[in-house]
Amino acid sequence: MRAVAIQRFGDPTGMAMIEAPCPIAERGQVIIETGAIGVGGVDAMIRRGTVADMHPMPVGLIPGSEVAGVVAAVGADVDESWIGRRVWAFTGVGGGYTEVAKARVGDIVPIPDDLTFTDAVAIGSAGPVAHFALSHAHFGSADAVLVRGAAGSIGIATVELAARAGAQIIAVTTSSTERGTRLREFGATHVLDRAGNGDASAPESFDVIVDVIGGALVPAFIDRLAPNGRMVLAGMVAGPVPSDVGSRLLRGFQLSRSLATFSLDTVPADATNRVRREQFVAVTRGGLSAVVQDVLPLDRAADAHRLMDAGQVFGRIVLTP
Ligand SMILES: NC(=O)c1ccc[n+]([C@@H]2O[C@H](COP(=O)([O-])OP(=O)(O)OC[C@H]3O[C@@H](n4cnc5c(N)ncnc54)[C@H](OP(=O)(O)O)[C@@H]3O)[C@@H](O)[C@H]2O)c1
Repeated sequence: MRAVAIQRFGDPTGMAMIEAPCPIAERGQVIIETGAIGVGGVDAMIRRGTVADMHPMPVGLIPGSEVAGVVAAVGADVDESWIGRRVWAFTGVGGGYTEVAKARVGDIVPIPDDLTFTDAVAIGSAGPVAHFALSHAHFGSADAVLVRGAAGSIGIATVELAARAGAQIIAVTTSSTERGTRLREFGATHVLDRAGNGDASAPESFDVIVDVIGGALVPAFIDRLAPNGRMVLAGMVAGPVPSDVGSRLLRGFQLSRSLATFSLDTVPADATNRVRREQFVAVTRGGLSAVVQDVLPLDRAADAHRLMDAGQVFGRIVLTP
């Protein structure tokens, strides 16, 4: 089968098409002929080697953590009725950029007939992260919300879910005016620059901040939390947060603010899959958006990563085998 592998960590030229043996379904696993492959921010972080200290990856890794396609085979202990079904699948830290992927049966979810494979991988991971990040922040419809890094797939879904839940104030950070305009279509009410400035009418402080960016500015955004405000760090696109971040929180002790990390890994799979199924249906009914910047053939995976590195992706890039 054709696949894309990371032959050298660093820039996208280190990725190459390879011929790899087709995976075989072991116990608890299914084999999927892919129809669409999601390209995520995590894939880019792995390819750059920036997470190698925390999560060492072998050269030759096939990147990609989510695919949609048709189940072609199942392991000995897996219900054979899965064969032929259209599914979304989480493949782990890698294994997605290929014609034939492998997943645990607990990590697949059937997709509605009227949902395209492309839309399934645009929302299948990002939608649940947005949903559970908001709930981790104890978001309620009366809250003023700030979504930091709103132009990515997680950010867009967070904005849209907050808006559809009735939030009246949803500020976003983005680097471009054009993206700000697009984010308003999903429910953003105030558009800030990456540092959180640029809109004099925006509130000074927020009840909830969902942050996929992390990096050096996290302490500055802690200062934007209202009394009892909750900031949830759901990603680290800009790298690790300063190690003394706790002292910034303690400086505002009397304001009862909190800072939490959030990973979907801590949500039980059946809860994640239930939300994922509901969101797939919502996309088919126009209740949630699957935002796809571009669909490229698998052999252009390096170009997809170049677009990500250049900051030119609004939503998701999807590969097709
Ligand atoms: N919590 C979980 O369970 C979970 C699950 C999956 C992924 N993740 C994490 O989520 C993150 C990726 O999310 P995503 O795919 O939605 O994001 P993304 O598309 O990679 O990035 C979102 C936006 O961040 C902005 N940005 C890029 N570099 C920046 C910088 N240096 N400083 C400030 N803003 C910057 C860009 O928008 P503008 O140019 O418009 O500013 C970009 O569109 C990763 O850190 C990944 O590890 C978390």
